[in-house]
Amino acid sequence: MDADIQPHPLTGKRVALGVTGSIAAYKAVSLLRALTKAGASVSVVMTKASTKFVTPMTFEVLSGQSVTTDLFEAHQEMKHLSIPEQADVIIVAPATANFLAKAAVGLADDVLSTMLLTSRCPLIVAPAMDGDMWTHPTVQDHVRTLRSRGVFVLDPEEGPLASGQVAQGRLAGESRILEAVEQTLFPQLDFTGQRVLISAGPTQEAIDPVRYISNRSSGKMGYALAEAARSRGAEVTLVTGPTALTPPAGIRVIPVTTAQEMAAAMAAYFEWSTVVIMAAAVADFRPKEVASHKLKKGGQAVPTLELEQTSDILAMLSAKRTSQILVGFAAETQHLLAHAQTKLAAKGLDLIVANDVTQEGAGFGSDRNAAVILSRTGQQWPLSLRSKSQMAHDILSVIVDFPKSMQGTHTPTVIS
Ligand code: CTP
Repeated sequence: MDADIQPHPLTGKRVALGVTGSIAAYKAVSLLRALTKAGASVSVVMTKASTKFVTPMTFEVLSGQSVTTDLFEAHQEMKHLSIPEQADVIIVAPATANFLAKAAVGLADDVLSTMLLTSRCPLIVAPAMDGDMWTHPTVQDHVRTLRSRGVFVLDPEEGPLASGQVAQGRLAGESRILEAVEQTLFPQLDFTGQRVLISAGPTQEAIDPVRYISNRSSGKMGYALAEAARSRGAEVTLVTGPTALTPPAGIRVIPVTTAQEMAAAMAAYFEWSTVVIMAAAVADFRPKEVASHKLKKGGQAVPTLELEQTSDILAMLSAKRTSQILVGFAAETQHLLAHAQTKLAAKGLDLIVANDVTQEGAGFGSDRNAAVILSRTGQQWPLSLRSKSQMAHDILSVIVDFPKSMQGTHTPTVIS
């Protein structure tokens, strides 16, 4: 072999490819080709429904291995045990809503679902279905359950679907699936030794015992950052306002409600941290007085709320930092770069992630985001619309390179 030609990292890796009954099953053929071309040895396992879309023969010829479709036939060779035992990774692509439900609750009524219960290797799942099914709360619950167990669930892509609908539901592109395989088999551990303190979600500021002021932040970006930092080897503390999200495993989670509680929690872990990322949407104002009883409407004038400003957590941390890298977010509705630049300087940050929350498909509540990262040294990294998980990894890559980009001249800016 030519000394300069490196073998593909997947060379010799054993992949179990599960195919379920979606119209996107035909794309699994091309995925199988790409995996074998990269040098992987692929055993294909098909559900009964998937054989209605593509024949097992197609996969047999292209993988050079017999294809497993039947639990009882497979049972004779114990394939439900031997395939996962030998696999370095299992990929299920496409994964139907039915498959996600079975995997989430642990049903084992065919070879593929039985295999999942016997396997101990990483699992990557690439769903494909109609847009309304993907966004259905039951499906989303199953996705959350699987993710909380460490399953790599790739968000489907937006585009025209078999139903004619244009929505999120298309099988993730082949390159994204291959990237997930590499990320899973060869995790990047460039945050090893780093202690990352992240804030996420909104804060709630009480008006009375039953009412509060808050904002539309879902916490998804902060949680994605926490998960990505942990997967890259960091120790992570996540200070989170109230969200509907399941905290990722392997992370210290500090739940808070108000801006004041968030400030206290961030201050408590600040000295411990080497990197601080304020992804939370902290309330800037809170009611000056909190009514001790529920405000009643009957017979009284409409109450007027007097507000006072909360303290700026980032500016407070910035004033007492030693060597931490400080990263802020700027959620803007206009003059994105100018406002972000002002915040970067005023809060004494190293980096700021500026996002236009009015952009369609991005920002609050969405699974995707688009942003520009600005550094105090004048650099800019535009990040076009992508999943929040991908965005999290891209932000971390900029952070980890930041001290290097300063060429060892990293002197913290302290503001008073
Ligand atoms: N932030 C903070 N403490 C606050 C308010 C905001 O630490 N009391 C942080 C946010 O977590 C974010 C950054 O400061 O990382 C910018 O927040 P943003 O709401 O965009 O800006 P503000 O400073 O609140 O200014 P404005 O609301 O006027 O845009």
